[in-house]
Amino acid sequence: MKKTIWITGAGSGIGEALALAYNHTEHTIILSGRNKTQLESVSKNILNPYILPIDVTQENQITKAVATIKSTFGNVDILINNAGVSQRATVSETTNDVGRNLMEVNFFGSVHLTKAILPMMKKANKGSIVAISSAAGKFGFPLRSYYSASKHALHGFYESLSLELKDTQIHTMLVCPGRIRTDISKNALTGSGKSHNQMDQGQLNGIPVEKCASKIIQGISSKKAELYIGGNEILLIYIKRYFPFLFRLIAKRVNPK
Ligand SMILES: NC(=O)c1ccc[n+]([C@@H]2O[C@H](COP(=O)([O-])OP(=O)(O)OC[C@H]3O[C@@H](n4cnc5c(N)ncnc54)[C@H](OP(=O)(O)O)[C@@H]3O)[C@@H](O)[C@H]2O)c1
Repeated sequence: MKKTIWITGAGSGIGEALALAYNHTEHTIILSGRNKTQLESVSKNILNPYILPIDVTQENQITKAVATIKSTFGNVDILINNAGVSQRATVSETTNDVGRNLMEVNFFGSVHLTKAILPMMKKANKGSIVAISSAAGKFGFPLRSYYSASKHALHGFYESLSLELKDTQIHTMLVCPGRIRTDISKNALTGSGKSHNQMDQGQLNGIPVEKCASKIIQGISSKKAELYIGGNEILLIYIKRYFPFLFRLIAKRVNPK
């Protein structure tokens, strides 16, 4: 069935893999992110791409983008709030400005975009809204304080939203990837806001990004509420839930890089 799919952070990593996995003559894939050149490069492999560069931290850009989508497509069937940035610094090393920026991108960026698209979805009484959280949205982790907090915040927001939407046909899903092999650690922010610029060992050992995209697409099709994707690190979510003491013992020993 013909679908209009809007993916943020579509110029790289999980967003790019989702765009390629959804690529089909019937679908229109709206590619968003800040770097237009990267979006154009991804769009070359997409049959029906629509490039819509935005910075999700800028509310005026979100408003403009949603108006463009409304006039061009009328609605979107699937919104995937995937844009995000990680952190590689201790609490003490991270300036307040960098911490606030992590919240702006990972939490408010996702939330503001969702709020802006909701009226269209409510009018059509259909659609899927996906928030890419993280395993770090289920437990804290060294060098990820603000990142983990921003992802935990997504859970409070989207769980509340899904309950508010109980009498509609609008589906919401939170995705918690563990370690997926992308450039996320290179793009992660240090305490002063510079790029960490290193491919961490944990990232390198992560599962292939195509596998992650395929599981997200299956989750959307089967209208899952929450999805965990990754390797053994996903066990930590269950250990934290059922044996919090054991979680602390294990997490202290895991290399955060
Ligand atoms: N890889 C993992 O192991 C992993 C694990 C858990 C969760 N995740 C989550 O998965 C999502 C995708 O990450 P990834 O692994 O694919 O890393 P990535 O390759 O670094 O992708 C992040 C994307 O977000 C975009 N972005 C960053 N800031 C933005 C902003 N202000 N406005 C719009 N777009 C912005 C970036 O594009 P521009 O720079 O062009 O804007 C980039 O395409 C993130 O939410 C991340 O937290 C990843």
